Amino acid sequence: MRFKDKKILITGASGGIGQVVAAKCEQEGAQLFTTDRAGAVSAIGDLTDASFCDALPQLASDAMGGLDIVMNNAGVITRGDITTATDDDYVLTMAVNIEAPFRICRAAIPLLAATGGGAIVNTASCWGLYPGSAHPLYVMSKAALASLTQCLGKDHAPQNIRVNAVCPNEVNTPMLRSGFAIRGFDPDEAVSELNQTVPLGRIAEPEDIADVILFLASDDARYMCGALVEVNGGKAVI
Ligand SMILES: NC(=O)c1ccc[n+]([C@@H]2O[C@H](COP(=O)([O-])OP(=O)(O)OC[C@H]3O[C@@H](n4cnc5c(N)ncnc54)[C@H](O)[C@@H]3O)[C@@H](O)[C@H]2O)c1
Repeated sequence: MRFKDKKILITGASGGIGQVVAAKCEQEGAQLFTTDRAGAVSAIGDLTDASFCDALPQLASDAMGGLDIVMNNAGVITRGDITTATDDDYVLTMAVNIEAPFRICRAAIPLLAATGGGAIVNTASCWGLYPGSAHPLYVMSKAALASLTQCLGKDHAPQNIRVNAVCPNEVNTPMLRSGFAIRGFDPDEAVSELNQTVPLGRIAEPEDIADVILFLASDDARYMCGALVEVNGGKAVI
């Protein structure tokens, strides 16, 4: 019960990782305010809407009677090398992967500070640390999120606000599987093949990432600020 009476805002809560994070937080006693574009969440909303992002922390705080933890988990991936990237791809990727966390952190930090501190966990990516090929928009957006995390981790530690990020490699979620489907591969077969490229023998399941997100949000990580935690089963990005 690490999150007993903790009030947590989670974005992307209908997604592969987000659903598991929400369920685990609830099992550990948290009160949740969940959001996504669709699904059974506290607030349906689009993170490309700046005013929605700006208002979200206060909305969550009003609904729960306070705010202790923010998890910026939503994300989108746009694929293809730079010559195929459209202006719309650029705007969407930056809006969801970096502008939304920027706006949400900016609005949440004063609320967290007012109650003596808190924690923010951002979901970046190994690809934000070591760019994978043919996803320029995704890797630059996740690099920006990693950098924002490090900066805020320093800036807001004096207010007892810990800001950290998890950086997964491949995770078995709709984001990964839909990419295979779009390219004409059978997702199950593609995941089996991908499993063989990971030293631990399998790509991550959402639970593997969720456990690290919960750790970073909890007091178990009380001395961690601005950390970028790679969770990769031993597989480096090449
Ligand atoms: N799956 C992977 O291999 C992998 C690897 C590294 C990092 N990540 C990151 O993990 C996080 C969670 O992704 P996932 O793998 O669970 O994928 P997912 O696609 O299952 O979940 C992402 C969620 O974000 C939501 N979202 C996207 N755009 C939105 C918008 N405009 N407004 C509101 N919500 C929006 C989606 O609706 C979805 O529920 C993302 O930030 C992703 O970049 C995933």
